[in-house]
Amino acid sequence: MVTRREFLDTLATGAAGLAVASSAKSYGQILGSNERLNFAVIGLNSRAYAHLSSLKANKASARITHVVDVDSTILAKYAAATEKELGYAPVADKDFRKVLELKDVDVITIATPEQWHAPMAILGLEAGKHVYVEKPCSHNPAEGALLVAAQKKYGKLCQMGTQQRSSAFTIDIIEKIHNGLVGRPYFAKCWYNNTRKSIGVGKVVPVPATLDWDLWQGPAPRQPYRDNVHPYNWHWFKTWGTGETLNNGTHEVDVCRWALGVDFPNRVTASGGRYHFKDDWQFYDTLVTSYEYDDKMISWEGSCCQGMRYFNRGRGSLIEGTEGTVMIDRDGYEIYDLGGKKTSEFKVGKETTTADLVGADSMTDAHFANLIAGIRTGEKLHSPVAVGNVAVTMLQLSNIAWEVNRELHLDPTDGKIQNDPKSAALWNREYEKGWEPKI
Ligand SMILES: NC(=O)c1ccc[n+]([C@@H]2O[C@H](COP(=O)([O-])OP(=O)(O)OC[C@H]3O[C@@H](n4cnc5c(N)ncnc54)[C@H](O)[C@@H]3O)[C@@H](O)[C@H]2O)c1
Repeated sequence: MVTRREFLDTLATGAAGLAVASSAKSYGQILGSNERLNFAVIGLNSRAYAHLSSLKANKASARITHVVDVDSTILAKYAAATEKELGYAPVADKDFRKVLELKDVDVITIATPEQWHAPMAILGLEAGKHVYVEKPCSHNPAEGALLVAAQKKYGKLCQMGTQQRSSAFTIDIIEKIHNGLVGRPYFAKCWYNNTRKSIGVGKVVPVPATLDWDLWQGPAPRQPYRDNVHPYNWHWFKTWGTGETLNNGTHEVDVCRWALGVDFPNRVTASGGRYHFKDDWQFYDTLVTSYEYDDKMISWEGSCCQGMRYFNRGRGSLIEGTEGTVMIDRDGYEIYDLGGKKTSEFKVGKETTTADLVGADSMTDAHFANLIAGIRTGEKLHSPVAVGNVAVTMLQLSNIAWEVNRELHLDPTDGKIQNDPKSAALWNREYEKGWEPKI
């Protein structure tokens, strides 16, 4: 008898011709013809609701069997939402390591804070799970490279949550750009604006009884619990987060490098600061970064406490070439001639938004569908971690350039910083002893 896992492994590696006749009634049973993949969703406060919505959209081939969060209040709320949306109750657990031991969990999705992304994804791959890891796939470049190596070593699929890679209109327009729509594309400009509020100055307070603060911190060096970190505001602290470049720049810088057909640049510069508020926030609220190649360039501008929109959009990417320009956002694209006159446009909705996608959206549905098809039929992933990690590393290099306040020269084959030991030291981070990721 072929086990369910052996069957799925066979599908994932592309072999065909197996027939297994049994009908699966629970996730613990042997594979049947209507088999669905079992997902464990990990880190449940906000982005995980988009995972729920997209797994519901893909319910013919996927179900959520487990939900995991270190905060029992957040866990209970999400478990109830899953039951309401899907009509059955998932198993709820606070410790993802226990879920990794379960052989019938096929895929894990990770929407935790970022100190956990790569270490958890690596543990998942090692445990034989396919992984959907939110962007950014890592907290620092060394860890991103380790995750890429882990994916190769363990052979399971790993999709990074840059969902615009699965947007049909974006795939279409990028292909047209590659086929000469704007001549030779050489400059890509992308941006993000928002009106984030101050996070204030936090106080050390007792850890809430509902929260496992040790497991929340995981690989990060231990710190006392403060009242302005969990949930969400960890984004703006260096121990756990990666700032707005990784939080939102990852999406558009990835679109730009895809459109220009480039990987790592030769040089990175980044300038900016925390200008709007004075508080605990450890990154910039305003940042201008440039990536220079031999004959191309990408720029990203983030202004996350000032909602002034550029080109009447809160986020987007402009791809300029020798014969014209394409403006791409989450809502469609516009094509311009060399003189800047609009010649055509395509729209899927009313207007693009900078709000975090924490509910239904078709790009994320398609991104999950692509991972599921990758597992079931060997379809090529749109954002395999080896591809996603390039933009992630670029943005981490932007953070490093900002931190050391100087231009970085890179080896364009792997993004490594050249002739600058102080900057190169930021390629990695410190780990809590005993929690270091390894493969
Ligand atoms: N692709 C997108 O468009 C998109 C949109 C929003 C957020 N995101 C990404 O999703 C990630 C999560 O963001 P968020 O806004 O939901 O954060 P959040 O702080 O609101 O939620 C994170 C949750 O993870 C839980 N958690 C922490 N450690 C855990 C562990 N070891 N095991 C299980 N749960 C754990 C926390 O308790 C919390 O409930 C971020 O990396 C963010 O960049 C992506």
